[in-house]
Order: sequence, then structure tokens, then C-alpha cells
Amino acid sequence: MNKITLSTLKKLKSSGEKFTCLTAYDASFAIAQENAGIEVILVGDSLGMVVKGQACTLSVSMDEMVYHTANVSRVCQKSLIMSDLPFASDITKEQAYSNSARLISEGGAHMVKIEGGAAMLETVSFLAQRGVAVCSHLGLLPQSVYKMGGYRIQGRTPEEAEIILNDAIALEKAGADILLLECVPAELAARITSSVSIPVIGIGAGVDCDAQVLVCYDMLGLTNGEPARFVKNFLAETDSIQDAFKAYVEQVKNSQFPNLRHTFN
Ligand code: KIV
Repeated sequence: MNKITLSTLKKLKSSGEKFTCLTAYDASFAIAQENAGIEVILVGDSLGMVVKGQACTLSVSMDEMVYHTANVSRVCQKSLIMSDLPFASDITKEQAYSNSARLISEGGAHMVKIEGGAAMLETVSFLAQRGVAVCSHLGLLPQSVYKMGGYRIQGRTPEEAEIILNDAIALEKAGADILLLECVPAELAARITSSVSIPVIGIGAGVDCDAQVLVCYDMLGLTNGEPARFVKNFLAETDSIQDAFKAYVEQVKNSQFPNLRHTFN
């Protein structure tokens, strides 16, 4: 695998080849994922739950994001490293810029992920104009879990679906390089994916997105409690973590994963 850049991902979208993303928070998982051919490694603020044992992502700090991002980027040579701007690290566009700079210069991230639609347009545009590569996260926004009333599917009514679609189009215009759609009906995700020219990564968003992401512990069967509908345990079908990562790559690339069992209508 050659070094993955945004142009690689855009070319994959144009050619119709799916790509893969998994979360990692440390060097050992990151290098195993890179060796399995995972194109994008996400240092997600899901670390608040799967590493710190919290009920949600809201307690994750900038220092923690920088620490985990550096642990991942130190060993990776090829995968593109995306790192989350954690809760309240982007209250102003200037704050989002200085915190993105920390993730990039101290953490070694190649791009940042930022939650939110219309409310974040100005921030996304501010970052893009200053050379920061941005992934905009739409649909279920874990940092807004209390406002959203829990981890619920988004975009089920025509009005909600229209808002998410319009946000996606506006974010591309504002300069977002990638979109990440979490827990939206597959039909809406397919509409968004064909309406924007930037790559769309889905989680609980059906098979028609350009790429898929899962939390790595979930896809290894290490969920604390009942796994979400969109999760598949790839370790259950293989003999090693390395083979589970390879099976994930293969099944995303040939559109075997996600199937209808992992999809919302
Ligand atoms: O933080 C994270 O791991 C994420 C994924 C669930 C997409 O944002």
C-alpha cells in the first residue's frame, strides 16, 4: 500500500472502490490495522468509552487526544491518520484552529474530524482556508448525546433527512474533505454519497457509502454490553486479530459488509 492521502481517497471514490477505516488509540492496534490495509485510522473520542470506561465521549480532553494520536502516528507509515476534535474544543473557530494545530503538530494527525452541520460551517471554512484537512461528522453526533436524547438513528423523517442532506452539501462547499455519517437510514446515506463529490464514510449508514468505519474493539467482539445493530464481530470468523482486520477490509471492499442486518431503514 502506498501512502494514503486525500487524493487517494478521492480517486477511490471516483473509481467506485470502497475504502476502510477503523479506530485505533495505540501503536499496536494501529500498526496491525495498517498492515491489514486499512486506509484511514481514526483516533476517535470514542476512547472516552472504550479506553477510559466512561458512559460517553464528553470527558475526553485535548491532552488525551494528542497523547493517543501521537501513539498511533508514531508507528504508521502509510495509513491516513484522522483525529477527533473532542467536546468543547471547537467553541470558536479560532479555538478549533489552535486545537487542530495541536492534533497535527504534536499528535501527527493528517486531518481532524469535527462534529456538526450548519452550526459548524464557518469553523470548517476557517480551518479549510488555513490548510487544515477536515472530516465533518453528521447524523448521530455522540458529543450531542444529551441534546439528542440518546444514541438514536437520525434522519428518519423527510424533514430531518433534508436537513442532513443540505448540511452535507453545504459542508462540502465550505471546504470539508470527507464526510462521516453515523446512524442514518441507508437510503439517505446513499443519496448523500451520490450528491457530494467528497468521500463519505459510514457507520450504521448502509453499504452505499464510499467507505466504512467501526470502533476496533467492537469489531473484535469486545463491546461492553449489547453491540449496536451495525456492529459485526469479525474475530468470530477468524483465528487472529490480524486476520479479523483483513476480513473487514475484504468484506468492505466487496460490499459484503455491511449487509441488511447491520443497516437501518
Ligand atoms: O469517536 C469515534 O470513534 C467515532 C466513530 C464512532 C465514527 O467518531
